[in-house]
Amino acid sequence: MASRYHDVYKGWKEDPLGFWKSAASEIDWVATSDKIFDPDQGQYGRWFPDWECNTCYNCLDRHVERGRPGQPALIYDSPITGRKQTFTYAELLEEVEGFAAVLQDQGLSKGDRAIIYMPMIPQAVMAMLACARLGVVHSVVFGGFAANELATRIDDATPKTIIAASCGIEPGRVIAYKPLIDQAIELSKHKPDSVLVVQREEQKAELQDGRDHDLGALQADAVAAGRKVSPVPVKATDPLYVLYTSGTTGQPKGVVRDNGGHMVALKWTMSNLYDVQPGEVFWAASDVGWVVGHSYICYAPLLHGCTTILFEGKPVGTPDAGVFWRVISEHNVVSLFTAPTAFRAIRKEDPKGELIKQYDLSTYRSLFLAGERADPETVNWAIDQLQVPVIDHWWQTETGWCIVGNPLGLGSLPVKPGSPTVPMPGYDVQVLDDAGHPLGPNTLGNIVVKLPLPPGTFPTLWNADKRFFDSYLAEFPGYYKTADAGVIDDDGYLSIMARTDDIINVAGHRLSTGGMEEVLATHPDVAECAVIGIADKLKGQLPCGFVVLKAGVERAHEDIEKELVKLVRERIGPVAAFKIAITVDRLPKTRSGKILRGTMRQIADGETYKMPATIDDPAILDEITEALKSHGISA
Ligand code: COA
Ligand code: AMP
Repeated sequence: MASRYHDVYKGWKEDPLGFWKSAASEIDWVATSDKIFDPDQGQYGRWFPDWECNTCYNCLDRHVERGRPGQPALIYDSPITGRKQTFTYAELLEEVEGFAAVLQDQGLSKGDRAIIYMPMIPQAVMAMLACARLGVVHSVVFGGFAANELATRIDDATPKTIIAASCGIEPGRVIAYKPLIDQAIELSKHKPDSVLVVQREEQKAELQDGRDHDLGALQADAVAAGRKVSPVPVKATDPLYVLYTSGTTGQPKGVVRDNGGHMVALKWTMSNLYDVQPGEVFWAASDVGWVVGHSYICYAPLLHGCTTILFEGKPVGTPDAGVFWRVISEHNVVSLFTAPTAFRAIRKEDPKGELIKQYDLSTYRSLFLAGERADPETVNWAIDQLQVPVIDHWWQTETGWCIVGNPLGLGSLPVKPGSPTVPMPGYDVQVLDDAGHPLGPNTLGNIVVKLPLPPGTFPTLWNADKRFFDSYLAEFPGYYKTADAGVIDDDGYLSIMARTDDIINVAGHRLSTGGMEEVLATHPDVAECAVIGIADKLKGQLPCGFVVLKAGVERAHEDIEKELVKLVRERIGPVAAFKIAITVDRLPKTRSGKILRGTMRQIADGETYKMPATIDDPAILDEITEALKSHGISA
C-alpha cells in the first residue's frame, strides 16, 4: 500500500488549524469554540484556548457509556510478584471513582498537586486517572530516584498529598518506599498534608499518626460505598500533569502537559502512527515514571478504547528473556513499545531467539522503539526474530509524543537503518548551524522545531516561564531547541546523532551529567570533577566520573571512589547507574579553562580524536588514557 504520509503531512502544513480541528473531533468536549489556537497566549501560543474537557472522562466514562464496559481496560501482569489482574472499563471506572473520593476526602480539588511515587501497580494508573478526574495536577516520580530527588520535586510542585506504595520490587530486593518518602519530606521545605500508602504484602510500611493513611483500605471502603465522583470540567489549557526530567543542572525541569491538546494529539497517534484500533491490546513496556509510561501505558491506549498492559518486571530475569513473548502471547498484544536497551538485554540472553519460538505470536504486528538511539544491529535482530515491522521513533519528555517516526497507520515508508524516518504532522523540523542559519541536507547541526509546537507538547515549565524561554526558545528565535544534533537527508529523513547538552541516556533513562558532577563536588576530598557518558553495549551509555582530589588528601583512591559511587546512588538514586569513579591528577582543559569532556569521551570510547587546538597541556590526555585502562576501560 502506498503511504498516505506525504499527503497528510502536506495537508497539515497547508492548514494546521483545520488539521487539529478535525483531530479534536475524536475527543468528547464539555465546551468548544471556533478558536483552535491563540498565538498571543502563553510562551508561544496555546491550543484550544477556550475549550473545556475532562481527560479521565475521555479515558473511561465514554467507553463505559458507549459499548465497552466489559472490555478489559487494564491488564496488570507482574512476573516479579507472580500476580495478574484484569480490570474492565466499568471496573476501572469504579476503582477510579473510589480513588477520587479518597482524594476529595483529603481535601484535594482542581488545581492542587499530588505526587505519585509508586511502582508498576494498578493503583499508579488509578491515581493518575483519579487526579485527572478531579482536575488535580499529578506529578509521577520514578521509583528509582532517591529521597533527595523526591524532595526537590516536592519543593517545586508543592503537593497537598503524596500517593505511594509501601515498597517496590527489584530483582533480588524489596525497596521500602516509606523511609525514602519520610526522608524526602524531612529534606523538603514544603510539607504535604498527607501521605496515602498502598500496603503491599512484600513489605508493609509503618504509618505515622495523622499524616499517613492506608490507601487500599480507604479506596476499598469508597468503592464498597458506591461513591461516585463526577468528572470535573477543566480548561483544555489547564495542566494535567507535571513530569520532571533531567536538565543541565541538578534542578530538574518540570515539564507541563495540558489536558486538551494532549488528548487530541495522543488519540491521533494511536491509529495513524501505531496502527492500533479500539478494542485491541497495546503494550508499552516502560514505567509510569517516564513520559512513555504517561502517554502510552496510561493515557493514549485508554483514550482510544484499547486494552493497556501494566507490566511489573524486567525484560530478562523475571524469570527469563522469554517474558515479553509470554505477555504478548497470553494477552494478545498487537503492538509493543519499548526501549532498544530492553531488546539488547533479551538478545544477550537469547541470541538465537529460542524462547521466541515457544510462544504463539500470531496476533502480534509491530514493534516501536524509542528513548535512545536504536542501533541497526538490534533493529535487524528484532526484525529477523519477530518478522514484524520494527519502527524507531524519536521523541522527548518535552513533546510527550513522537516528533519523527514512521507512521504505520498511514502506510509505512521505506526504512533507512539508523534513521527514525520523517516528521509527524505538527512538527516542522529543521537543522540550523550555531548561528541559527538553515543548513542544507546531509549537514550535521542543531535540530529545531519551528514554533508553534503542536498540541500535546509542553506549553512551559512548571512555575518557570523564564527558564522555559531561556532553555528552549532563546537560542534560535522562532524555534524550539531540541538539544539533539542531527542531519536531514535528501529524502527528508532525520538522523539523531548526539545531544548538544550534558544529557546522557543510560538504559533508556535520561540523566544529567551536570547533576552528577554537582553531587561528586560535595565530597569533602574532591577538588574538581567531570562526568561523561561512555559507550556501553547493553545500556547504550554509562556515566563515568573523573575526580581530582584536594591537595593533601592521602586516603586510598579506591576508598574515595567507592564513597563517590555510594554518594551518587544515595543522592540521585540507583537509576543513575553510576559505578565508575576514577581519580586523576589533572583534567584536560582548554587554555581558557573549559574541561574537554568531548575528547575524554572519545578516548574512553576508543574513537580517533583530533588534538583540540586550544588544549592547555596535551600530556593530560595520555594520563586520562592510562587512568581509564587501570579501571578496565580499554581506550
Ligand atoms: N525502583 C528502584 N530501583 C530501580 C527501579 C525502580 N523502579 N528501576 C531500576 N532500579 C534500579 C535497578 O535495580 C538497578 O539497581 P542496581 O544498580 O542495584 O542493579 C539500577 O536502578 C539501574 O537500573 P537499570 O539501568 O534499569 O538497569 P537494570 O540492570 O535493572 O536493567 C534493563 C537493565 C536493560 C533490563 C532495563 O534498564 C530496562 O528494561 N530498560 C528499559 C528502559 C525503559 O523502559 N525506558 C523507558 C523509555 S521507553
Ligand atoms: P526522554 O526525554 O527521556 O524521552 O529523552 C529524550 C532524548 O532521548 C532525546 O532528546 C534523544 O536524545 C534521545 N532519544 C529518544 N528517542 C530517540 C531515538 N529514537 N533515537 C535517538 N535518540 C533518541
